[in-house]
Amino acid sequence: MNPSPIVVLRDGREMPQLGLGVWQVPDNQAINSVSEALRCGYRAVDTAAIYRNENGVGQGIKSSGISRQEIFVTTKLWNEDQGYDLAMRAIDSSLSKLNLEYVDLYLIHWPSPKRGLYKESWKALVEIKKTGRAKSIGVSNFMAEHLQEIMDATGEVPVVNQVELHPRFQQRELREFHDKHNIFTQSWSPLGQGKILQEPVIQEIARKYGKTPAQIVIRWHLQNNLIVIPKSVTPTRIQENFDVFNFKLESSDFEKIQNMDDPNGRASWHPLTADF
Ligand SMILES: NC(=O)c1ccc[n+]([C@@H]2O[C@H](COP(=O)([O-])OP(=O)(O)OC[C@H]3O[C@@H](n4cnc5c(N)ncnc54)[C@H](OP(=O)(O)O)[C@@H]3O)[C@@H](O)[C@H]2O)c1
Repeated sequence: MNPSPIVVLRDGREMPQLGLGVWQVPDNQAINSVSEALRCGYRAVDTAAIYRNENGVGQGIKSSGISRQEIFVTTKLWNEDQGYDLAMRAIDSSLSKLNLEYVDLYLIHWPSPKRGLYKESWKALVEIKKTGRAKSIGVSNFMAEHLQEIMDATGEVPVVNQVELHPRFQQRELREFHDKHNIFTQSWSPLGQGKILQEPVIQEIARKYGKTPAQIVIRWHLQNNLIVIPKSVTPTRIQENFDVFNFKLESSDFEKIQNMDDPNGRASWHPLTADF
């Protein structure tokens, strides 16, 4: 299959625009999902310490035989490990489980404002990047105010903010802020955890192109210049979700999906109240 398009992050590093998400994939299943994805041509995997499958992800990577430099691995600092010292230790724990010497991208998973530690955590990530344990650093679920605060505190701008984003919740205001600061937006739950695929608008467009609803939604993310990480443990779906580079949504169909946006369409946790 065709390779994924590559985006260039603000620090000059390259990242595949389409990768595999592995939230809610058990450790032993992650080995197969990652192997299958790499076999199909995926070259990016998105995991997190809290997914408790870094071990399986690492095994999937090793068993693929593909060289480390060709694969873009993201993991995330969990909330309980926020703060400078704990974050410095958390990256080592993640690297050890992944059996890797570095990750390509390390993200603060949530701002967790109640803890009040995201600034200190960001300082740790800046240091982690200097030591080469993460090639790039970014955040997840940060609102503009959180982004502004860490940038002001350190002068270091995250390369990516990974947030809930799908046709029913398009995060336009936050994306404008990202664009102003040259931060890439990465879409989590890009398929709305599968629910978006039932939407009549998506199904109708899928019929028109002879594609599946998932392929239409992934194509919409790509054409929106979003980095996208659909999750599947099903080999046929893993393949299907990567088979999206041989067609393009016409502007009228793209607009129909743009019009699905709903400011109340958030399906998951709000960064201010998510309290894990
Ligand atoms: N930073 C954060 O806070 C955060 C939060 C949530 C998610 N994420 C990341 O984003 C990734 C993706 O989000 P997500 O896992 O929430 O949901 P998602 O990718 O929007 O949807 C996954 C669901 O859709 C199904 N699916 C996948 N491809 C399909 C297809 N072609 N046809 C029909 N159904 C399909 C999957 O089923 P099967 O697996 O059974 O095939 C699964 O139930 C996560 O895995 C994780 O890496 C990050």
